[in-house]
Amino acid sequence: MTTALITGSTSGIGAAFARRLAADGHNLVLVARDTKRLRDQATELHDRHGIEAEVLSADLSTDDGIEAVERRLADRKHAVDLLVNNAGFGNKGRYLDAPLADELTMLKVHCEAVLRLTTAAVGAMRERGRGGVVNVASVAAFVPRGTYGASKAWVVQFTQGVAKDLTGSGVRLMALCPGFVRTEFHQRAGMGTDSIPNWMWLDADKVVAEGLNDLARGKSLSIPDPRYKALLGAAKLVPRPLLGTISSKTGRKYGPR
Ligand SMILES: NC(=O)c1ccc[n+]([C@@H]2O[C@H](COP(=O)([O-])OP(=O)(O)OC[C@H]3O[C@@H](n4cnc5c(N)ncnc54)[C@H](OP(=O)(O)O)[C@@H]3O)[C@@H](O)[C@H]2O)c1
Repeated sequence: MTTALITGSTSGIGAAFARRLAADGHNLVLVARDTKRLRDQATELHDRHGIEAEVLSADLSTDDGIEAVERRLADRKHAVDLLVNNAGFGNKGRYLDAPLADELTMLKVHCEAVLRLTTAAVGAMRERGRGGVVNVASVAAFVPRGTYGASKAWVVQFTQGVAKDLTGSGVRLMALCPGFVRTEFHQRAGMGTDSIPNWMWLDADKVVAEGLNDLARGKSLSIPDPRYKALLGAAKLVPRPLLGTISSKTGRKYGPR
């Protein structure tokens, strides 16, 4: 049996990772802030799949929270074989609409926590000569899209760079870049979603299934779903200033309620 640690496991894409990995027989370390929700999730997954599910309450926007997860990942006696850096959130509105403190918190959760947790996990994995890290980014990484898009672009660049550096070590890294997924993400950010066409929505379980297939195939970048692969292919043909205009306009449309 192997062990996977998932950040942001209690909802959306993280919960889909937890369901799928538990069904495949992996023990889990579940990380988020809401302890009651984590405990309920651990009990449910243990009862349904017979796996061990550990609860680790941590706020990844704080040094204490990041350190607690770093310690768990570096524990050589209780190895973590797969790390899924998934916790994340959106800020409502465009540049200057969101308070600077919220933007800095985003960078802490999306970038600093991902850097520190990846480093803690990969150190132990490289010693064992095996392991995997999935860093959840977004298709927003590929279009001009304020702090959110920039933070996810960092995740993609960082992950693919480290994957290259670790070639031959037995440790795999992959950035997962979904499009719109039906989760609590938009509601938590207070973003209206009525104008997002139905065809653009992805299912979290399918995103995870495709992501794990890509990880098994050794890919360092996964864009789940052919619709988004086609959209990103087309976006490469659009001049960057025009892409910025389109992105800013759709941001306005899909953004604050
Ligand atoms: N939904 C989309 O359309 C979409 C598209 C592309 C990429 N993504 C990315 O997918 C990832 C997961 O998002 P989701 O859509 O599944 O969102 P979600 O349903 O809102 O779930 C977010 C999860 O992260 C946890 N979390 C949030 N802030 C945290 C913090 N400071 N410390 C620890 N845990 C924290 C939440 O639990 P607690 O509140 O209990 O901490 C929850 O478990 C994010 O990185 C997001 O950027 C989402």
